Amino acid sequence: MKGKHELDPHALLIASRNRHKCEEIRAILDVPGLTMVSAADCPELPDVDEDGETFEANALKKAVTLARLTGLRALGDDSGLEVDALGGAPGVRSARYAGEPVDYAANNRKLLTALENAASRRARFRCVLALASPAGKTWLVEGVCEGSIACAEKGRQGFGYDPLFVPEGFEETFAEMAPARKNALSHRGRALAAAQRDWSDLLRAPR
Ligand code: IMP
Repeated sequence: MKGKHELDPHALLIASRNRHKCEEIRAILDVPGLTMVSAADCPELPDVDEDGETFEANALKKAVTLARLTGLRALGDDSGLEVDALGGAPGVRSARYAGEPVDYAANNRKLLTALENAASRRARFRCVLALASPAGKTWLVEGVCEGSIACAEKGRQGFGYDPLFVPEGFEETFAEMAPARKNALSHRGRALAAAQRDWSDLLRAPR
């Protein structure tokens, strides 16, 4: 398969077309000498259906499929919001909570309506990262950020549910925080910190 990623056979492929996620991963992951290529910049790569029942299954599917196709190590991120009063929904369905196509504003409206009479607004973001080698070996890490759902959207930074999510111990939503502040607290930031700690040898570019 031809593509930009062939420029560096030691690159790490971020197995996502979500530009916000890819930007956050590039900003957070700090591995000296590592080049990152995102699936969003490789139009020849197929979309991978996120049809699994768990974050782990979806993260693995994205990473394994694209590692096999490209011959690169691939990093899959599957993440979402779990709201206690909704039995953990939208969970793995977070991207398409209000239906197809993905619509962040419609998802946020649906969430606010669903919580109108809720006794608890407690929620958490969860991020599962899967690393896959071209030969099909896989590794998983997870990051969680506890918090609550605000009563109205606030802030313009970030993406998705960020205007509604207030991390525990803070008054502002993720969308009111500078990106570096969100990344220091977020589920993705925590998962990537675990990845850097547990996968330091796997992520380092071979010499
Ligand atoms: P997926 O991992 O591609 O299935 O999509 C994850 C979905 O969860 C996104 O479309 C957002 O709706 C939501 N999500 C995941 N991470 C974040 C985040 O950092 N901020 C806001 N929403 C997020």
